[in-house]
Amino acid sequence: TVDDPDARAACAHHSNHPDALIEVLHWLQASAGHISDAAIATIADALNLSRAEVLGVVSFYHDFRRQPGARHTFKLCRAEACQAAGAEAVAAAIEDQLEALSTTDHPPEFELKSVYCLGNCALGPAAMLDERPLGRLTAERALAALTRLDS
Ligand code: FES
Repeated sequence: TVDDPDARAACAHHSNHPDALIEVLHWLQASAGHISDAAIATIADALNLSRAEVLGVVSFYHDFRRQPGARHTFKLCRAEACQAAGAEAVAAAIEDQLEALSTTDHPPEFELKSVYCLGNCALGPAAMLDERPLGRLTAERALAALTRLDS
């Protein structure tokens, strides 16, 4: 298997201690943007864990990606208060937009994720575009926010 030198170095930085698994993964996610197969194999080897153990942790936490991802994340609240305020119409509009872009845009500029309550229920439908909170969304406002993204 291919060795991932960055993963190897990150593990070494933590003295190859198995308890450092999450920290190593976070660091790799932040620096490489995803956790590759090579990284998983390398981490398993360095920390003396099985690949299944490493993969289990990677798939358990939503922060970790297995593929290079979109540059921006639109986290739309799909919990009750936001549903009642019209979150589904916003979701449908974004999904249409993503579908329209899917033939041309690789990897996609943004991805839609569903989250459950952002603590901004009074301003539902609520979302986070990367770190920016958005409230009282309509389909139009959501699409407008996405088209203003600088790439
Ligand atoms: Fe959507 Fe709380 S229900 S922010």
